Amino acid sequence: MHSDSRRGFMQSVGVAGGLALMASANAASAAEKPAPRLIDKSPQTLPPLPFAQDALAPVISARTVDFHYNKHHAGYYTNLAKLVANTPLATASLEEVVLASAGNPERRAIFNNAAQAWNHNLYWQSLSPKASTPSGGLAAAIARDFQTQTALEAELSKAAVGQFGSGWAWLVLDGGRLKVVATSNAENPLASGAVPLLVIDVWEHAYYLDEQNRRADYVEGVVHKLLNWDNASRRFAAATA
Ligand SMILES: [Fe+2]
Repeated sequence: MHSDSRRGFMQSVGVAGGLALMASANAASAAEKPAPRLIDKSPQTLPPLPFAQDALAPVISARTVDFHYNKHHAGYYTNLAKLVANTPLATASLEEVVLASAGNPERRAIFNNAAQAWNHNLYWQSLSPKASTPSGGLAAAIARDFQTQTALEAELSKAAVGQFGSGWAWLVLDGGRLKVVATSNAENPLASGAVPLLVIDVWEHAYYLDEQNRRADYVEGVVHKLLNWDNASRRFAAATA
């Protein structure tokens, strides 16, 4: 189905029907992309931070976490609630809102706020002050697809530092393989069928109070001191179950 006609039909049948149609349309249009594989079903409400605001210092200060979580992340939820009020999307999961608005210029504001809300959910889950290592299953996939953990970390750092302007660097499971990808602004890999395992926020608000223009210093600290491999391992297990 042509994307324009698919979009119009999705708007007329609502979220659930639209998602089902999207899945079948994807399947029917061949090998384009697999149907989205969702391992999360999140409410459209700001989840609590999984750590204290000062837990990530000195790599990320309490002040940065405070602004980032309480102003930026919370703000996306506030905006989203206004945008979907009294529409079928108001009762959908956050993931359903992302998928129902991705690639639709008429729902651009909804997508931007829903995706940013979702991306930040995963960002906080991707960080921890507690040292961790990939599970056996994830470690084997890293060895298969990157050779070494060091090589994966280098690729992730390169993607994060090299992303031009605002965006995100992701480790995803896509078609059974681990990949590092970068996206701009609010874009995320959900709509293309990949399962994000962890993500690094490289919008300036993530690091400017602490590092000013030195994004590479922020990325190095995150990659080597804060990535939550326990959470990435849980997501890998769910995605491969
Ligand atoms: Fe952010």
